Amino acid sequence: MNILILGSGGREHALAWAVMQNPKCDRLIVAPGNAGVAMIAECAALDIEDGGAVVTFAEENSIDFVIVGPEAPLAAGVADRLRDAGLLVFGPSAEAARLEASKSFTKEICDAANAPTAAYGHFTDADAAKAYVRAQGAPIVVKADGLAAGKGVIIAETVAEAEAAIDDMFGGAFGVAGAEVVIEEFMQGEEASFFVLCDGTDVLPIGSAQDHKRVGEGDTGLNTGGMGAYSPAPVLTDAIAQTALDQIIKPTMAEMAKRGAPYKGVLYAGLMIENGQPRLVEYNVRFGDPECQVLMMRLGAQAMDLMHACAEGRLAEARVNWADDHAMTVVLAANGYPGSYEKGSVIGGLDALPEDSFQMMFHAGTTEQDGKITATGGRVLNATARGATLQEARDRAYAMVDQVTWPEGFCRRDIGWRAL
Ligand code: AMP
Ligand code: GLY
Repeated sequence: MNILILGSGGREHALAWAVMQNPKCDRLIVAPGNAGVAMIAECAALDIEDGGAVVTFAEENSIDFVIVGPEAPLAAGVADRLRDAGLLVFGPSAEAARLEASKSFTKEICDAANAPTAAYGHFTDADAAKAYVRAQGAPIVVKADGLAAGKGVIIAETVAEAEAAIDDMFGGAFGVAGAEVVIEEFMQGEEASFFVLCDGTDVLPIGSAQDHKRVGEGDTGLNTGGMGAYSPAPVLTDAIAQTALDQIIKPTMAEMAKRGAPYKGVLYAGLMIENGQPRLVEYNVRFGDPECQVLMMRLGAQAMDLMHACAEGRLAEARVNWADDHAMTVVLAANGYPGSYEKGSVIGGLDALPEDSFQMMFHAGTTEQDGKITATGGRVLNATARGATLQEARDRAYAMVDQVTWPEGFCRRDIGWRAL
């Protein structure tokens, strides 16, 4: 099979690494890719949010299967364009991708599906939103409705903070994403991410993970795209996972199918777990980054067979071959991230790293210049490892981190602290 992966982050490097191990993969192109991807596959420059350009590229390169990494092309309808052109694609339609692209849409679906989630109101004007906040009291959560690159959620400790967030959002701080605002009850509990494949009819769980969203150790400081993750997440026990499937995920999938927008692809459910009961925080219509890195490390070559079965509507017959293992990924980011940071610093020590099915340095924001790997993004590298225990995975991941020489970068030293 000739396979095309769309995206350029650590998630896509991990997907490419898993796909390359599968003997059914004859040729792999990643567009646009990064310096790490270029070591294992072909990279191609392509505007991945331009559906027409992606279709043309796929046809010209005799692509048999397209895997879409990030949400933006999905929300832009790239999977629809590929399907219309008769190409096999892993990733939901634009209509189904609204589960991530519109928070008020997701809340409405949860209502219709009777899925447990936070109580909420949604508003198109600031006065009504503020009146709701004053009636509910704090803490309370204020969210821009649309895609805001993970920045559109404000956990307000006081009513005044919530009112200021409402003014910011309607004032255009998040562009069109903030033209509508969702205000939610603040949920207590522990968070976990649950990943399932859906083919429009059947649902197959493929693992759980816990992310570390804050930049600082002990989960302090600003929110980021994720500073590290591990899988499985012990808080998501088999019983709680089954409850989440029965009460949240399957009813959501049934509701989407009923509305003529069957969901096909990976669904990432962010769950809040309190007293053994999961409630939905949010859906994402793609793999998490960096959660994908630990899932791919655990699944290996079978990940491609599972994604392929999902795209072909064959999940009913698909099985995950589980190893009783644990994986961890530690994100190395540029100093200053998630604020402003310098680009172009040189990263040393990468050549000597042992890389095999137990440990991989996945690249995110890297490029190669004159034979040297340089940093081009905020999150730059993902030291990813697995082991028989989480401690073993952790020790391997940090041993990789310690071999990298990059004074312009940093990482959190406490990834996995809740589970360890
Ligand atoms: P989201 O972009 O929806 O994932 O929100 C980002 C983060 O905000 C989540 O991962 C949670 O940690 C937190 N969050 C979002 N909504 C709520 C809520 N209703 N209650 C508590 N925490 C929340
Ligand atoms: N790591 C969080 C996300 O991918 O949304």
